[in-house]
Amino acid sequence: MVCGPRSELKRQKVRRVIERTFVMIKPDAVGRRLCGEVIRRYEAKGLKLLGLKMQILPRDLADKHYAEHVGKPYYEKLVTFVTSGPTIQMVWEGENAVVAARKLNGATDCQDAETGTIRGDYGLDTRHNLVHASDSREMAEREIALYFRADELKLLYRDEREPGMSRRLSMSIASG
Ligand SMILES: Nc1ncnc2c1ncn2[C@@H]1O[C@H](COP(=O)(O)OP(=O)(O)OP(=O)(O)O)[C@@H](O)[C@H]1O
Ligand SMILES: [Mg+2]
Repeated sequence: MVCGPRSELKRQKVRRVIERTFVMIKPDAVGRRLCGEVIRRYEAKGLKLLGLKMQILPRDLADKHYAEHVGKPYYEKLVTFVTSGPTIQMVWEGENAVVAARKLNGATDCQDAETGTIRGDYGLDTRHNLVHASDSREMAEREIALYFRADELKLLYRDEREPGMSRRLSMSIASG
């Protein structure tokens, strides 16, 4: 057995944490009827949907959301775009959810995004890039708080409400 600082480092590298992240489906994806496809990919990855809302973002909320970009040459067009139609706000939970969501979405510029990512498969350019996901755990908590109250994220799935339900569900699926 290896002991000491090196084994500690190894443990830290493989550490997996259950965390939450914030994801938004932008107006281009809603307009192109891609909401189901986005949600399907997040569920297929194994993340759990904790909360969901739909709204056209008011300007002041969009300004808060993209506060770190204020003053950038692309800022006005970014905010005009993100307030141009319905958007969907979601909170997803799971192992390393922040990084997992960023990987599902792909690179900011859809031309650079890998095939197999949402932006790589469906996106057109840098602005019309379909989805947003928080870029750190701290940012995720800040963004979640912008859109959701704590009590809106406490719904339990059926198998969490009734102990033993997930085993009974899988048995009934297996037996047809
Ligand atoms: N150089 C740029 N030119 C035009 N638009 C840009 C540029 N950089 C960023 N943006 C726009 O600002 C948004 C936020 O940029 P950011 O650097 O946070 O990228 P991201 O984290 O991949 O995207 P998002 O925050 O929307 O998930 C991008 O989604 C993009 O629409
Ligand atoms: Mg970002």
